[in-house]
Formats: sequence, structure tokens, C-alpha cells
Amino acid sequence: MVFSTDEFKFIADMVYKQAAIVLDEKKKYLVEARLSKVMNDEFLWSPNELITKLQDSASTKLRAKVVDAMTINETSFFRDGHPYEELRQSLIPTLIKTRAAEKQINIWCAAGSTGQEPYSIAMTLRQHFPELAAWRIKIIASDISDRVLEQARSGRYSQLEVNRGLSPALLSRFFTRDKDHWVANKELKDLIEFRKVNLVEPLVGLPKFDLIFIRNVLIYFNVGTKKEILAKIAKTMRPDGALVLGTAETMLGVTDEFERRSGTRTALYTLKAQCAAGGVS
Ligand SMILES: C[S@@+](CC[C@H](N)C(=O)[O-])C[C@H]1O[C@@H](n2cnc3c(N)ncnc32)[C@H](O)[C@@H]1O
Repeated sequence: MVFSTDEFKFIADMVYKQAAIVLDEKKKYLVEARLSKVMNDEFLWSPNELITKLQDSASTKLRAKVVDAMTINETSFFRDGHPYEELRQSLIPTLIKTRAAEKQINIWCAAGSTGQEPYSIAMTLRQHFPELAAWRIKIIASDISDRVLEQARSGRYSQLEVNRGLSPALLSRFFTRDKDHWVANKELKDLIEFRKVNLVEPLVGLPKFDLIFIRNVLIYFNVGTKKEILAKIAKTMRPDGALVLGTAETMLGVTDEFERRSGTRTALYTLKAQCAAGGVS
């Protein structure tokens, strides 16, 4: 299905308005391929028909479906390895000390895609910190895409997906075989609440977080959007909380509300003292 320049621009503008995802001309082939599937499902036979339907204000579901089709959901269990080492060796041991009185830890996995990231966090907690069994631990895993949230909630993964990052020992301890798939056990599912959150919209109804993983999503946004999202996220963090970005990501040139922790390969950030004290709006 080939889109004209104007038709492509309409789609790119709409996706930008809904999700702040930037689609430039280089992604036109990808947009066309992904929209072909949406159009087949919806019995729409030309870009013009699709656009006419999208212009109808009642087409909320179709707009969400188009945005969903434009998301890149690449992920894997224990992606990059070292953030989970950081979690095991430093972040969780620190929280066990600083939250000893309240015995509660809130973790947010923003843009957690099909769930491999929040399940990896949950496995790290359950495997290495048995003392947390009596604590109230909540991992909120969110994404803008209903499609990936559905898989994440089901905790159901193909052999190919578990082969990407899950050791045989963790697989047999935390997953149950269901024909040619593997399903996360209740022990992991009980730790995670899955929610639809569009990072571009106001962040409502979220608790204050001790730890935030927001990995490999800011790369899809322009600097202004990154800045706005990080400002909102700063307000959802406990003053002594920590934030983890994707390995190749940085806040350099985006915001100075956070400072990067040195001595680690992980892109680990904490709030600067004056921001943590509420000095930055
Ligand atoms: C490449 S995946 C990253 C998954 C995981 N964090 C990781 O690093 O493996 C990016 C995810 O961001 C989500 N996303 C894109 N735009 C978003 C938005 N505006 N709000 C929330 N999630 C968004 C996509 O649906 C996708 O699942």
C-alpha cells in the first residue's frame, strides 16, 4: 500500500499528536507496511479511506490502533545485563536499608513493552532478595500499546522469546510450559500491575516511585518532548529515588534536573538536590 506525501504527513502528524512519536520520511516504508495490516483488519482498501475514517472524531479506537501499529516494541529478558546487576548489587540493597521502616518499594517500568523488562525485575527481586517476601513490593509496568500490554499481562512467551535472555534455571523456576509457550508463574505476576500510560499525557494516579526504569523509549521523541516527560517523571520520584535509562541514552542536553551516577555502565540517574527538595518546577 503506497501513501502519497500528503497522506504520509497526515499519519505522521496524527501519531505525533497522540503519542509524540516522530515519524520522518525515512520511516515511510515501515508506516506503509504496518498500516496495510491495520487496513486489512478494518476492511479499508485505500489510504484515502483510512484517512477519512481517522478524521471522524468517533474513531478513537482506530486512532489508537494506528498509533499502536507505529510503536517499536523491541525488548528481551534481562536486556543489556548490567542494569539488573546494578539492581542486584546496589539499587535494591540500598532500598532495603533506606526503606527498612516502611517495608515498601514502588518500581515503575515505564514503556515496558511485552513485559520481559518488568518480569526480569520481578525475577531479580524474588531470586536474590528472599527477605523482601514480607515487604509490600509493587512493580507498575506501563505502555501506550494495548497489544503489548495484553501479552505482558498474560505473561506468555514463545520459545524464541525466552531464548532471548532467560537462563534455563530461571525459566524452570519462574515459568510453566504450556504447549509450545512458557507462562510466568503467579509468584511473578503477583508483583506486577500492568497499566496503559501514555507518557505524553498527564501522569495521574501513580504512586511516588523509589525506582523507575524508562529504557529505550525516549529515543522516539524530540528534545522538547523528552524534557517534558522527564520533568513529569521527576515529580513522580521519591527525592532519593533512582531512574534508569537505556544503555545508549543520556539526559545530556535535555534536562539538568537529574545527575548521572558515575562508576557504573548503567545510565543511572538521581534527582539533583534542589530538584529533589522541590526547588525546580
Ligand atoms: C523499544 S520498546 C522498549 C521496551 C523496554 N523498555 C526495553 O528497553 O526493553 C519502547 C516501548 O515504548 C512504548 N511507547 C512508545 N511511545 C510511548 C508513549 N508515548 N507512552 C508510553 N509508551 C510509549 C512502545 O509501545 C514500546 O513498547
